[in-house]
Amino acid sequence: MSDYLIAPSILAANFARLGEEVDTVLESGGDIIHFDVMDNHFVPNLTIGPMVCKALRDHGVTAPIDVHLMVSPVDEMIRMFADAGADYITFHPEASTHVDRSLQLIRDLGCKAGLVINPATGLNTAQWVMDKMDMLVLMSVNPGFGGQKFIPSTIDKLKQARAMIDSSGHNIRLEIDGGVGVNNIAEIAAAGADTFVAGSAIFSQPDYAKVIAQLRAELASVG
Ligand code: DX5
Ligand code: ZN
Repeated sequence: MSDYLIAPSILAANFARLGEEVDTVLESGGDIIHFDVMDNHFVPNLTIGPMVCKALRDHGVTAPIDVHLMVSPVDEMIRMFADAGADYITFHPEASTHVDRSLQLIRDLGCKAGLVINPATGLNTAQWVMDKMDMLVLMSVNPGFGGQKFIPSTIDKLKQARAMIDSSGHNIRLEIDGGVGVNNIAEIAAAGADTFVAGSAIFSQPDYAKVIAQLRAELASVG
């Protein structure tokens, strides 16, 4: 049985009552909280920063927080999110001048490090930093917005990423981000993902526990 993690993306939550939304989605079976940070520079949208991460910790959230940086540059935000209680910090290679150094910075600050690969970006950069990553994230939509459609070519890229991780011998999670739902999570898992971001699929429904149970039932069918 694979060790699958479901990562609800709070981008699709009701920000007016965020603490309560996070509590509910965790009680409903979410494993880790996916936290999308956008700067209206690297991506055409603006969201939440380290103060909101700290506020969730102060609210009592103890689950891992998976910070997805869609900002450029990245290093100062890495420092601030490490201080704010992040567990995972991932960034896009296009957003850092020195990718290897930024990955090392994340680990030096006691967090888990990862790269996020855009739909039209190859896995080449990741290949050279396998020893410095705890998670590799493949974007299956263009970053910036929730509720977009899964880009099918990501399935082949997932298979390549899975093979790369397995042959590296390193312990690296493979996360998929964008357009994941009950209808496609099994196919995505079969292609090699083990960590599943889901924003609108969960938060657009009245009963989060019901959707998460459906996602898990689909995963159980993969094994
Ligand atoms: C998009 C974000 C995603 C987003 C996914 O830039 O990185 O994490 O929340 O949302 P859904 O699951 O609705 O595609
Ligand atoms: Zn994300």
